[in-house]
Amino acid sequence: MPAKISPSKGSPYARILGVGGYRPTRVVPNEVILEHIDSSDEWIRSRSGIASRHWASPEETVAEMSLAAGGKAIADAGISASDIDAVVIATVSHFKQTPAIATEIAHRIGAGKAPAFDISAGCAGFTYGLTLAKSMVTDGTAQHVLVVGVERLSDLTDLEDRSTAFLFGDGAGAVIVGPSKEPAIGPTVWGSEGDKAQTITQTVAWDAYREGAADEIRFPAIAQEGQAVFRWAVFEMAKVAQEALDAAGITADQLDAFIPHQANMRIIDSMIKTLKLPEHVAVARDVETTGNTSAASIPLAMERLLATGQARSGDTALVIGFGAGLVYAATVVTLP
Ligand SMILES: CC(C)(COP(=O)(O)OP(=O)(O)OC[C@H]1O[C@@H](n2cnc3c(N)ncnc32)[C@H](O)[C@@H]1OP(=O)(O)O)[C@@H](O)C(=O)NCCC(=O)NCCS
Repeated sequence: MPAKISPSKGSPYARILGVGGYRPTRVVPNEVILEHIDSSDEWIRSRSGIASRHWASPEETVAEMSLAAGGKAIADAGISASDIDAVVIATVSHFKQTPAIATEIAHRIGAGKAPAFDISAGCAGFTYGLTLAKSMVTDGTAQHVLVVGVERLSDLTDLEDRSTAFLFGDGAGAVIVGPSKEPAIGPTVWGSEGDKAQTITQTVAWDAYREGAADEIRFPAIAQEGQAVFRWAVFEMAKVAQEALDAAGITADQLDAFIPHQANMRIIDSMIKTLKLPEHVAVARDVETTGNTSAASIPLAMERLLATGQARSGDTALVIGFGAGLVYAATVVTLP
C-alpha cells in the first residue's frame, strides 16, 4: 500500500478581487509614428482603430510599471501586500532570460517569499495567468495571487516597419485573484496552434548576438503576417469566445461586458457581430488610446471600463486573449 498523501484544501471557487493599471506618462499620437513610415493618420485609424499609444521612459521599466499596477490592484482588492502568496508575471518584454522578473516584484511589493514566476504566452499571457491563479486558489496552493500583464513593446517595435510600427504600446495591468463562495471565473477554453508560430515572431533570436554577430543584425523586433493573424483572430477567436460562453453556461444576452485582447478595433467589431452581442454589452475599446499592449491589454481595458463607469463591479464579462504562439485563452468572469 503506498503511503496516503493528504490532499490540498482550496477555496471552492475563485474570483478577481481587484484590478489596477499603469499607463506610461508619454502619450504618442499617430503623428509621431508618421515621422518614420509612409502612412497617414487616416489609414492607421481606419485599419487599426488606434489614435495614440503610451511609450515608457527609461525609468518606466517593466518592474516599475508592474509595481505601480500591482499596488493599485492590491488597494482595489482591499488586502495588504503580505496577503499575496503567489506572483505571476506575464510578459514578453523583460529582457533578461534569467532570473524571472516575478521574484523582484514579489520582494519589492511586500509579498515576502511568495512563489513567483514569469509566463511567456504573448497576448494571451494575462488570461493564461488568470487561469493558473484560479487553479492555485481552488487547489489551495495560494489564497491571493497577484497576476500582472506588463509590456514595453516600444523596445520591440521596428519604427521603420510600416506593418507594425503603429500597433504597439507600453503599460501594465494587474489583478488579485482570491477565494470566492460563488463561481466567478468560468472554465477556460485555451490552446495553441504551433503550426502558425511564424505568423508573429521576434525577428532576431537573442543568441544571434554572440561573438560580434550583433554588429551585422538589426535589433530584435516583433514582426507579423498581418493579414494571416487578422483572419485567424476574426474567424477562429470568435469561435473560442463562443465556446467560453457555452462552457460558463452564459448566453450573449446575459453578458454585461466584453473585454477582448486589444489588438485591432476591426477584430473587436467583427467578434461583436459573430457573437451577436446585444447593444447593452459594454465593449472595451481601449486600443484607441493605448494601442496593443499584449499581455497588459485585458487588465488595462478592464480597469478603464470600471473606472469610466461603462461596467460595474459584479458585472459578468467575457475575456479573451490571443496572440504570438499562436496561443489563446478565453473565460467568463465576474468583474471586481
Ligand atoms: C496590421 C494591419 C492593421 C494591416 O492592415 P491590412 O489591411 O492587413 O494591410 P495589408 O498589409 O494587407 O496592406 C494593405 C495595403 O495597405 C498598405 N499598407 C500597409 N501598411 C501601411 C501603412 N502603415 N500605411 C499605409 N498603407 C499601408 C499596403 O502596402 C497595401 O497596399 P496595396 O493594397 O496597395 O498593396 C492588419 O493586418 C492587422 O491588424 N492585423 C492583425 C494585427 C494584430 O492584431 N496583431 C497582433 C495580434 S495579437
